[in-house]
Amino acid sequence: MAKQTVVVMPGDGIGQTVLPEALRVIEAAGFEADYVEADIGWEYWISEGNALPERTVDLLAEHKLGLFGAITSKPKDKAAAELAPELQDKGLSYFSPIVGMRQRFSLDVCIRPCRSFAGNPLNFIRRTADGGFEEPPVDAVIFRQNTEGMYSGVEWTHPPANVLEALGTHTKFKAFAEASPADLAISTRIFTRRACQRILRAGFEYARKHGYKSVTVCEKPNVLRETSGMMEEEAKKTQADFPEIELWSTNIDAQMMWLTKNPETYGVIVAGNLFGDIVSDAFAGLVGGLGFAASGNIGEEVAVFEPTHGSAPKYAELDPPIVNPIAMILAAAMLLDHIGETDKAKSVRAAVAAVVQEGKVRPYDMMKLPGGADAIGKGAATTTQVTNAIIEKL
Ligand code: NAI
Ligand code: MG
Repeated sequence: MAKQTVVVMPGDGIGQTVLPEALRVIEAAGFEADYVEADIGWEYWISEGNALPERTVDLLAEHKLGLFGAITSKPKDKAAAELAPELQDKGLSYFSPIVGMRQRFSLDVCIRPCRSFAGNPLNFIRRTADGGFEEPPVDAVIFRQNTEGMYSGVEWTHPPANVLEALGTHTKFKAFAEASPADLAISTRIFTRRACQRILRAGFEYARKHGYKSVTVCEKPNVLRETSGMMEEEAKKTQADFPEIELWSTNIDAQMMWLTKNPETYGVIVAGNLFGDIVSDAFAGLVGGLGFAASGNIGEEVAVFEPTHGSAPKYAELDPPIVNPIAMILAAAMLLDHIGETDKAKSVRAAVAAVVQEGKVRPYDMMKLPGGADAIGKGAATTTQVTNAIIEKL
């Protein structure tokens, strides 16, 4: 069989630190692949005016599988000021390359598994009635619609007259018609039935494959009747094909409350873009936070896996590096799952679990230390030591 080619995109800051560590781990797990490194991130914005160069898009289109570290994004005016002198005044505007990848390849299904590893001092704990505490195991997998909803980008400040005119046909818009257009900001929430169907089916199929007993749709259909309503309606239809899996429905606000009350109750959760973003960060916080949160962005053809964290610039220059490589390593394990290398993915996760359980080698976040060069002196392991410990278990 031909070797799999993986497009590796370390990107900026600690993306450069953690991505090579993840490659060391999957190689140690016996995964052989050809890696092609692709350009992405701030450096290419500055020198080329494009943080996602076309050659990188072409590589992804060709090989269909990407592993991504992190990128740095900055506000519009800062971005413009850092652009190479010869590119200034060319009307270029900065665009996030990860959002760009999601849109270019319709990576509409975002999967974020949030599972606690036994022995992680960052795990959620709960007080019991007798004053003790317990640590419920969390095993939630969030399916977030990744391309539409509140993040579709269809928005205006000072909307044009024809937009206002169209909105004026809705009776509820009367309450806003008095405001001066310059003082109106509008962001739209657009759902398509097809995208709802895709994210729901992905969630149900995952639940079936991995033995989860429920799929929870987490929206707000009592208020957002049209968009959340469509998701609910499609959820009921999809469930008909998965009779063994229960369909639950929660409102995003209530879900945020229940999540710290009984997080162990939930299995697969499906949500639109904004609510999925929120609920997945919240669940990630129960199982270790950014040092543990990995995700997959999956389209019909292309899939890109990444840690949820960003480029953490304040730690990027530290030598030795101190950041936790586990989120990136778990993202690489998701990539292995995606291409059917499930045994290798399992062994990577088991090795991470063993190191966490043993508790001897812990990066600064697991030591609950403030980040910084002195964390090492206070007993935190370096990024490399954490990776080495995981590789040793393999
Ligand atoms: P961040 O995720 O880069 O860092 C926030 C804080 O989380 C860090 O200061 C650190 O305390 C902690 N942290 C992050 N990763 C960690 C790790 N692997 N181990 C231990 N601790 C870790 O978010 P921030 O500071 O808001 O953004 C920094 C840059 O990253 C910005 O330019 C932002 O736009 C970009 N960003 C990129 C993302 C991506 O590439 N997908 C996602 C989020 C932010
Ligand atoms: Mg987020």
